[in-house]
Amino acid sequence: MQRAHRFDVIVIGAGGAGLMAARYAAQHANVTVAVISKLYPTRSHTGAAQGGVGAALGNVTEDYPEWHAFDTIKGGDYLTDQDVAETFAVDVVEAVYELEHMGLPFNRTPEGKIAQRKFGGHTREFGKSAVERACYAADRTGHMILQTLYQQSIKDDVIFFDEFQVLDVIMVDGECRGVVAYELATGALHTFHAKATIIAAGGNGRMFRVTSNAFALTGDLMSIVYRRGIPIEDPEFYQFHPTGLFKLGVLLTEGARGEGAILRNGEGERFMERYAPSIKDLAPRDMVSRAMYLEIRDGRGAGPNKEYIHLDLTHIDAHVIETRLPDITEFSRIYLGVDPVKELVPIQPTAHYAMGGIPTTIDTNVISSGDNTVVPGLYAAGEVACASLHGANRLGTNSLGDLIVFGRRAGMRAARYAAEATFGALPADNQDFARELLDALQRGPREERIAEIRRDLQDSMQDNASVFRTETLLRKQLVILAELRQRLTRAGVEDQGLQYNTELMEAVELGFLLDNAEQLVHGALNRTESRGAHSREDYQERDDVTWLKHTLVYKQADGVRIDYKPVTMGKYEPKPRVY
Ligand code: FUM
Repeated sequence: MQRAHRFDVIVIGAGGAGLMAARYAAQHANVTVAVISKLYPTRSHTGAAQGGVGAALGNVTEDYPEWHAFDTIKGGDYLTDQDVAETFAVDVVEAVYELEHMGLPFNRTPEGKIAQRKFGGHTREFGKSAVERACYAADRTGHMILQTLYQQSIKDDVIFFDEFQVLDVIMVDGECRGVVAYELATGALHTFHAKATIIAAGGNGRMFRVTSNAFALTGDLMSIVYRRGIPIEDPEFYQFHPTGLFKLGVLLTEGARGEGAILRNGEGERFMERYAPSIKDLAPRDMVSRAMYLEIRDGRGAGPNKEYIHLDLTHIDAHVIETRLPDITEFSRIYLGVDPVKELVPIQPTAHYAMGGIPTTIDTNVISSGDNTVVPGLYAAGEVACASLHGANRLGTNSLGDLIVFGRRAGMRAARYAAEATFGALPADNQDFARELLDALQRGPREERIAEIRRDLQDSMQDNASVFRTETLLRKQLVILAELRQRLTRAGVEDQGLQYNTELMEAVELGFLLDNAEQLVHGALNRTESRGAHSREDYQERDDVTWLKHTLVYKQADGVRIDYKPVTMGKYEPKPRVY
């Protein structure tokens, strides 16, 4: 296979954002588009998104984009850029109808409209009561989005490079000119020369022990651009989804609570009545996850060791459970041997979603500083990116919305840019950085094992930097991360082969995860307040005077540098978050 490629637009990642971007870029006349994915596209993690995509269609009850925008801003604990939320809430309505017209098999109301259900933090009339806003395809909404978009991309002649691991972005004079990627099947390095590069490579949940994230979610591109001088925005805001299967972390959709499921502590109490008297179990995820931790910590957990919470669906009509929540019903039966129709399901918060990421403008241009300096030729969308939509805590269903709204924007903007731009020259040594990275891991002394370092990273991040944080724990975690980095230099891979060397790729991914963990812990230590998913037990109040600003973490030779970016405010003044 040829190892030097040239496309007007390349897209890294084949999940919802990547495929949406590719499809829209490919519709631009005379623009060539390729997708580079470490997985076969339909295995991308968007396929694991279950409960729905939030859009104010008003098909079941009255609803408006303005209410959705407000919920997003309040849910984000006012760290959301308000212009972004307002644009998003309008655009997502159009994007959902586009998916419908592409053939996505949404559930239907009796009149044949797209069905909608309740989800956490989504309300009518600025917080009065829960609203049906999540458009869903049973509990397989992400899976259906992925299948639909993959078919459309094939139809639009997008070229796919499946099972290629990106290792570097090619930056010349501050401009992005493509990427270097490793072909898993052969072990060869390939250079992809592009006028525009769209990063849509997903999240980094694998830095934690209990996570809903697929094995592939190792924050690769959040590390790769960071190594090239681009900051990461708001990495301290990491979401724990309340309902992961106990110990396994496998997602049980919030759509279950949207259909009426209830959280109960070990005493059988519906404890969310105490924490969020108005919308109870449908409070935003940060609040619910904290409440669950507190119940367990105060000795009211369930099970022999009082270490989990119960999800109770037993009062819901069995037909509703089997037809609207078929996947999670099967997951509970298969993985825990528990039948949700008749039994309580043991659950715990599971690492789910990075609110932060590669900073972008509302138009998905990657920026390199707090004054919005655009990196020419570089775009980002989806979980890997931070358009400042989710603020300090994302509302459920806004991730699928983010993928389709900002994926589409990225595709259109990148194609327009590429149509006008010329190919800049590539440096002759463009593969050197990637080759040295691989060589170092292959030559390593093998005194340490990659799997053990990764396990220690995940355990320590779970214990020291998850739902609740303190200065002591975060400082301890920084020491641990430095030790883990040292251990990685003493590791190495046994497999010296070229074909499908997954051991080598796991070593590369571990390096990426360590960068991601470093970004998160430094951001969390620096932010001496509690806001959204960032909960400091030593600084329990939200501090709008000092901290109503986005964090930017830069990599430096001797550690990190932290800078800030203002939050774009609008008509909603920050208020205490009461639900
Ligand atoms: O609960 C869920 O179905 C997850 C949705 C989301 O993260 O948006």
